[in-house]
Amino acid sequence: MDSNVAVEAVDLVKRFGDNAAVDGVSFAVPAGTVLGMLGPNGAGKTTTVRMLTTLSRPTSGTGMVAGYDIIRQPEMVRRSMGLTGQAATVDELLTARENLRMVGGLSGMPRATIRPAADDLLERFLLTDAADRIVKTYSGGMRRRLDLAVSLIAAPPVLFLDEPTTGLDPRSRNDLWDVLRGLVREGTTLLLTTQYLEEADQLADDIVVIDKGHVIAHGTPTDLKSQAGRASVVLTVTHSCDLRRAEELMRRCVEEVHLEVGARRLTAQASGLADMSRIGEVFAASGIAVDDLGLQRPSLDDVFLHLTGHRAEDEPDSTSDVQLEGALG
Ligand SMILES: Nc1ncnc2c1ncn2[C@@H]1O[C@H](COP(=O)(O)OP(=O)(O)OP(=O)(O)O)[C@@H](O)[C@H]1O
Ligand SMILES: [Mg+2]
Repeated sequence: MDSNVAVEAVDLVKRFGDNAAVDGVSFAVPAGTVLGMLGPNGAGKTTTVRMLTTLSRPTSGTGMVAGYDIIRQPEMVRRSMGLTGQAATVDELLTARENLRMVGGLSGMPRATIRPAADDLLERFLLTDAADRIVKTYSGGMRRRLDLAVSLIAAPPVLFLDEPTTGLDPRSRNDLWDVLRGLVREGTTLLLTTQYLEEADQLADDIVVIDKGHVIAHGTPTDLKSQAGRASVVLTVTHSCDLRRAEELMRRCVEEVHLEVGARRLTAQASGLADMSRIGEVFAASGIAVDDLGLQRPSLDDVFLHLTGHRAEDEPDSTSDVQLEGALG
């Protein structure tokens, strides 16, 4: 294996009865980079992470973590990695500080280093004030932050995070992203699963999009977005202006202008900033009052729709409304 590769999945398959939850997944994560594994509910993200972290044995295929084979060297794999799963694993009846010290002890850290490492993590995850309260009294967000802190105590070179920010409010999510960026700067390799397109876009160097157990796309966020189409220029004009005249002016700069009368918005495909500034100049010269002018690049959500034909947040089948109706009687 290439020594610059920190995590590798090689044709991983996991079957539960007839259901192939993971059906031939391969990828490599270069050391010191972030791979975002993006996919809807039931795509096979957790199952892939469980195989790579030795919690579940592959039906076939294999993988490497930090140079160790997940099937032949599971002990070494476990020593080289940290994992934060989707479900909380901390002990509710201990305090945060006790949880951190216990896991530090279990991972064989020298006593003298556990104490300062725990204090540092409590600080980073904004848990210092609550450090000596039992976890049972914590909010969901605090537990989530402690989960992550615990997986970092032994400073593993490779970190697996299964939906790390699910259940966090936007502020805590941003704080966590900062912590994760800091770890990567210090050399940690990160594999994270997420259903949030924005999260993959914010953190990942590379993204694998997984759907129904298959990798359906692999590339940088920019690559994936450019697959979903070109950027568009979006111009919104004020209520007092003549929409038809605005449309005619915009057509002089770009082709295929789409007009939304109600929103007073004109949209057209653009090749980039040059088109946008030309439109800005033409409108400034014409005296037509413009409310807003911007360049809109395709989002990862558009990418998902383009690749799968359904939006990332859609259920794999559309029974959810029916179930909800049933539940409401
Ligand atoms: N222990 C199990 N026994 C039977 N089926 C399972 C088991 N674990 C997972 N599955 C099935 O495997 C498929 C993939 O599940 P997985 O948990 O990997 O999805 P996921 O991408 O992590 O989804 P989510 O975003 O909801 O966490 C699903 O169809 C799930 O029902
Ligand atoms: Mg999952």
